[in-house]
Amino acid sequence: MSEFQQKCTLLARDCLAPDVVRLTFQAPKIAVTARPGQFVMVRVIDGLDPLLRRPFSIHRSSADGTISLLFKVIGKGTEILAQRCVGDQLDLVGPLGKGFDFSGEQPVCLIGGGMGIAPLLFLAEQLEQSGRETQKDHVLLGARNKDELAPLAEEFSALGYAVQLASDDGSVGHKGFIPDLLDFVLPSVEQVYTCGPHLMMENIVGQCQQAEVSCQVSLETHMACGMGACLGCTVHGKRGLVHVCKQGPVFNADVLAWGEI
Ligand SMILES: Cc1cc2nc3c(=O)[nH]c(=O)nc-3n(C[C@H](O)[C@H](O)[C@H](O)COP(=O)(O)OP(=O)(O)OC[C@H]3O[C@@H](n4cnc5c(N)ncnc54)[C@H](O)[C@@H]3O)c2cc1C
Ligand code: FES
Repeated sequence: MSEFQQKCTLLARDCLAPDVVRLTFQAPKIAVTARPGQFVMVRVIDGLDPLLRRPFSIHRSSADGTISLLFKVIGKGTEILAQRCVGDQLDLVGPLGKGFDFSGEQPVCLIGGGMGIAPLLFLAEQLEQSGRETQKDHVLLGARNKDELAPLAEEFSALGYAVQLASDDGSVGHKGFIPDLLDFVLPSVEQVYTCGPHLMMENIVGQCQQAEVSCQVSLETHMACGMGACLGCTVHGKRGLVHVCKQGPVFNADVLAWGEI
């Protein structure tokens, strides 16, 4: 698989909600080869602090050679990244890792929690471009509140998906958690794709196993190198340790040892 290190010009910086930022870069080599579920390692600043690159899912990738990242400010790296200006050049490495397998024709359900929604918009766009009837597919999105969900929900709806929302505070959609909504959807789909908080995904995997619906999960672990060199991202699979950065971040849920991750 091809991966590139590129100095990429920041073309747009949009604040979707307090502390939630979308950055769009001119990144032609990465955009051409990126698949949904893959990620990039971003050097947020040219100086030494923070030294390590930060991993972000590819949120969008366009034929015009641009990619977008969607992230929440949670620490030093994301704080610096959120303050970068249009026209700045940032060093990106990618596309990295193994993305979603979405070759089937059967109805699917995309489930994103919090910033786990980021890679699912790229997947939703690719599914829609493959010519399938997205009206038969489902999208379940959960986050803290309406501010975080509304702009993203509109983008999935515009692609023709049936979108259901869950918010922690009840400001939009179901007040509670996404797994509460899934039981009603599972009988009509044959494949689930999910990314989000670990506990959410663990619950979803349990529900899918019970309903005998195949499930692919995208894991987020701490990553120092993103390329299989540092062992920092390992989790327990049923057949031993797996590297999330190389063998994932997308896995068939059945290969992971959920109780031990
Ligand atoms: C493959 C992959 C894709 C990702 N995609 C996205 C994305 O699309 N959007 C997004 O907002 N975030 C994403 N993340 C998480 C993102 O990398 C972290 O939010 C970011 O690195 C935090 O950097 P920081 O310097 O701001 O925070 P730090 O100062 O490094 O950490 C702040 C706090 O957050 C915790 N933390 C940091 N990274 C992680 C992590 N990966 N898992 C659990 N806790 C963590 C730290 O332990 C600490 O408590 C992804 C992570 C991975 C591995
Ligand atoms: S992040 Fe270094 S081996 Fe995966």
